[in-house]
Amino acid sequence: MPAPFLILEEIATEWMGTSFDAARNPSTGSGCFRDLLIMLSLLRLFFRLLYHEFAFTYDWVSWFVSMGQWRSWQRAALPYLRGRRVLEVADGTGDMLLDMAALGFEPIGFDLSPQMGRVARRKLRAHHLATRIPLTRGQAQALPFASASLPAILSTFPTEFIVAPAVIAEFYRVVQPGGVVVFVPSAQITGLNFADRFAHWLFRVTGQSASDWFEPFRQRYAQAGFAVRLETVTLPRSVVAVVVAEKK
Ligand SMILES: C[S@@+](CC[C@H](N)C(=O)[O-])C[C@H]1O[C@@H](n2cnc3c(N)ncnc32)[C@H](O)[C@@H]1O
Repeated sequence: MPAPFLILEEIATEWMGTSFDAARNPSTGSGCFRDLLIMLSLLRLFFRLLYHEFAFTYDWVSWFVSMGQWRSWQRAALPYLRGRRVLEVADGTGDMLLDMAALGFEPIGFDLSPQMGRVARRKLRAHHLATRIPLTRGQAQALPFASASLPAILSTFPTEFIVAPAVIAEFYRVVQPGGVVVFVPSAQITGLNFADRFAHWLFRVTGQSASDWFEPFRQRYAQAGFAVRLETVTLPRSVVAVVVAEKK
């Protein structure tokens, strides 16, 4: 589930004063909040399938919901990276690994989903990079990398793990002092043609372009010891948010 959903779910659950499961139970949940939480759980299911059983459709779906802008949105993070070795957490189908290798970085892929990993591996093989770029698998909550071993971590369109305290602690442990965690949580379509307006609406109803998501991100990363800033990158038909968290 995209990170803004986590915040939405937390707020809704807090207002209701009850748990997510209780809210789904017709005898305890009530009215529009119950409907909201049911919708959120359906969206969760959709995203779970997209990252696993339907991973082979991911590139097409991301292209469609962004009206062809997904790759530009991902690339908006590149200028903020540091050093050469970059751990891409939740690398998905691996496109950014190819981009980073082309720019002279030494990327390492890391993702939870074996199905996404298979798609990424096929792309690396097609570019003769399968032996140069390691693809690793696991949960961001427990990164299999030594402390202070990397100058940069990248994550584009991560799910809610990006605000989990255990993950932020892992990022802090693995990144070198002066190193950065760079992530792209969200983008907003600003183009005015019909397709762009439709994509803007789709992003809004699926929680992809929440406008007030940054403060919870900032607080959690600042508490862990990062200096956090939000960069906004303006493209011809969209605006991309890039969060840069520097380990002090
Ligand atoms: C929205 S996709 C983003 C993929 C890619 N970065 C992109 O920009 O298209 C989210 C990815 O996060 C991965 N993921 C979800 N939870 C994770 C976790 N706890 N640890 C590592 N990867 C995770 C999923 O398998 C999926 O590939």
